[in-house]
Amino acid sequence: MNEITIIKPDDMHLHIREGQIMQTVIKHTAKQFARAIIMPNLDNPIIDAEMAYNYFLDIKKTVPDFEPLMTIYFNEHLNNDALDRIQKLECVYGIKLYPSGVTTNSEKGIRSIDDCFSIFENMESKDIPLLLHGEVNDPSIDIFDREKVFIDKYLVKICKSFPKLRVVLEHISTKEAVDFVVEAHKNVAATITPQHMLLNRNDLLSGGIKPHNYCLPIVKRSSHQKAILNAAMSGNKKFFLGTDSAPHFKHQKESSCGCAGIYSALTAIEIYAQIFDEHNEINKLENFASKFGAEFYKLSYNSDKITLIKNDNFVPNKIEVENQELIPFLAGESLKWQLKIN
Ligand code: DOR
Ligand code: ZN
Repeated sequence: MNEITIIKPDDMHLHIREGQIMQTVIKHTAKQFARAIIMPNLDNPIIDAEMAYNYFLDIKKTVPDFEPLMTIYFNEHLNNDALDRIQKLECVYGIKLYPSGVTTNSEKGIRSIDDCFSIFENMESKDIPLLLHGEVNDPSIDIFDREKVFIDKYLVKICKSFPKLRVVLEHISTKEAVDFVVEAHKNVAATITPQHMLLNRNDLLSGGIKPHNYCLPIVKRSSHQKAILNAAMSGNKKFFLGTDSAPHFKHQKESSCGCAGIYSALTAIEIYAQIFDEHNEINKLENFASKFGAEFYKLSYNSDKITLIKNDNFVPNKIEVENQELIPFLAGESLKWQLKIN
C-alpha cells in the first residue's frame, strides 16, 4: 500500500511547555493531530481548574482549530470542591500523577501514593481519569526496574480498589506493563510512544551515549521493546497512541546532566505509520491512532481525515526556536511515510 487515509488522529500524551516554544511545537502537532492530552508539568505546574483554563486559552490562541485536552497535576489540594471545579470545566480530561522526582518538573509531585486513595475514590465517583507516570521514585531501585516496581507496589492495589476508575499507565516501557494492562479490568489502558517501540537500551548506551534517545521511563532491553511493539500491533483497544513528545533544547540534552525527553512531535504520525507498515499492520494504524484513545476518553471520532503517502521524508537535523536548537527524534534520518498536505 502506498497511500492511506485515516480519521485525523489524537495524541493522547503530549508536552508542549509554554511561551514561544509552545507556539512552535503545538503547530507541529496540530498539522497531524486534531486533539492532544496536554501534560501539566510546566515549571509552575497546572494544579487547578483556573490554571488549566488559562493554559487552554493560551494554546487556543496559537492553534484555534486544535482541541487541547487539558490535565491537572495531581496534588494534595484536590479536595471535593477542587474536583468539582475540575469536573465542571469541559476542557479537562484527567489528572496526571507524578511520583515526586521521577521526571521533568516532578519535584512538586506525590511523595506518598498511599495517602492519595481518598482522592482516587473521589475521582472514581466523579469519573475523572487518573493518568500515571508509573515509576517509583525510590533511589535505591534500579532505574530499569522502576516501572515494574511501581506496578507491583501501587498499581495492582489502585486498580483493584477502584474498578471503575479510568486509569492510563502512560508511556509503557516494559513487558510487565503490557501484561498488567492486558490482564487488568477494562478501565485500564496505556499509551505507547514511538521511542519505546523503536529503541532499546543499546540505542541509548552502546557505541557512545546518545542523549537525544534519553527519556523517562528509560528505554529497556530489546525483549521489552518487542513486547511494546506487539502490544501496539495487537489491535487491543487498551493500547493507544501517546507520543510523550517532550521538547528540551539541545544544550539541555547534550549536558553533563541531560534532561529526559524526546521531541517527536515534528513527524510523529509519520513515524508511527512507518512502524506499523514495517510490521505489515498499517491497517491497524487508524484504530490505534484515531479511535482507541477517543473511545477511552469518551470522545467522538474526529470528522477530519489525513492522508499519508509512501515517500522519502527527511527529518531535519534541528529546529530553531528562540535562537536555540531543538533536535527532533530521528534527526537526519529519512522516514518512508509522509503526511500529505492538502
Ligand atoms: O522523558 C520524559 N520527558 N518523560 C517524562 O515523563 C516527562 C517528559 C518531560 O516533560 O520532559
Ligand atoms: Zn510525558
